[in-house]
Amino acid sequence: MNLQEIKKDFPILENRNISYLDSGATTQKPIQVINAIQEFYKKNNANPHRGAYSLSIEATEFYENTRTKIAQFINARHREEIIFSKNATESLNLIAYSYGMTNLKKDDEVVISIMEHHSNLVPWQNVTKVTNSKLKYMYINDSFEIPDEEIKNKITEKTKIVGITHVSNVLGTVNNVKKIIDYAHKKGAIVVVDASQSIPHMKIDVQELNADFLVFSAHKMLAPLGIAVLYGKKQILEKMNPFLMGGDMIEYVYEQETTFAPLPNKFEAGTQNVEGVIGLGSAIDYIENIGYNNIYKIEKELVRYARQELSKLDFLTLYFTPNEENHSSVISFNIEGVHPHDVASILDLEGVCVRSGNHCAQPLMRYLGIDSTCRASFYIYNTKEDVDRLVNALNKAYDMFKNYIKKRN
Ligand code: ALA
Repeated sequence: MNLQEIKKDFPILENRNISYLDSGATTQKPIQVINAIQEFYKKNNANPHRGAYSLSIEATEFYENTRTKIAQFINARHREEIIFSKNATESLNLIAYSYGMTNLKKDDEVVISIMEHHSNLVPWQNVTKVTNSKLKYMYINDSFEIPDEEIKNKITEKTKIVGITHVSNVLGTVNNVKKIIDYAHKKGAIVVVDASQSIPHMKIDVQELNADFLVFSAHKMLAPLGIAVLYGKKQILEKMNPFLMGGDMIEYVYEQETTFAPLPNKFEAGTQNVEGVIGLGSAIDYIENIGYNNIYKIEKELVRYARQELSKLDFLTLYFTPNEENHSSVISFNIEGVHPHDVASILDLEGVCVRSGNHCAQPLMRYLGIDSTCRASFYIYNTKEDVDRLVNALNKAYDMFKNYIKKRN
């Protein structure tokens, strides 16, 4: 694959004159993924697991072969450790309700980090309240990283579950999840890793990490919206109760009782998002064709350039770690005295798409002493020209607002 030509695979970037810097929210989709979905509807559409006719059997094969592909992609030991869900939030809720509700007792502790997305925070708040257990936080230092002492002070013999994001969706900090997992295991806790912001950018090996659960959404890695993955160790998933009840997750249903299907069906109630699964399979092919080494090279150079160019703008406050190696493809920033929504609207006039707001991380915002930020997030189709366009647009925004800022000061 010609790495210079990647952008050409993305029709939306050919059709719209934009610098799309919001891949942390969702990535654009390559033509290969769009075509795979179209082909499925043109040639293979039927409801998997439901029919004895060949079209339905084919749809089942597409669906189940993708499960195997994902298991290989993240090096899961068993294909039935891969559960499809509608988004990472649903995967995390499944773990919190199915595992957490049953296994947490009074005075047990759940430890998460202050940089969690609400999806890896609000479910734990709820489950710890209902079970009378405690929710504790690992806080970050001035470098926007979790210090080792924080890991050691917070994860103790009382800890039963640790929830940690691999990469912060606000700060771009890459957490040392391997270290956290090893430490938590020594203390007898299980670990839930939110890999939504990491898997588009770096190779994940669940056996090497020894994660007990790992979740990610597909739409942040070139696949369609509405499909996500929950990985869980087989021996843990087998002991868990189903989260959603209904069709296809059962073995026998009697008037008053039901026995449940084995893994993975036990956790996949109702008709599934087959087009999403097929799109995800195609997205994995696309990523593997480029290769994570190349993805790393493209993004490292881009993020290094963005860090350098944005640091030259003295009117910006930037929120990223000084340690480049621990920084993924997300850069949050503020123009002091100007609301991020206003900044984002001016950038939009210049064709630059960034997210603004609290990024579903209100406790982190409060910890940083701010309400919100603008956030530029990069992916393989971005170029240095996109960074230059962002910098020019920011200069324009500052010019527009500077008199107003001075008057206020
Ligand atoms: N979780 C996504 C983000 O950070 C939507 O933008």
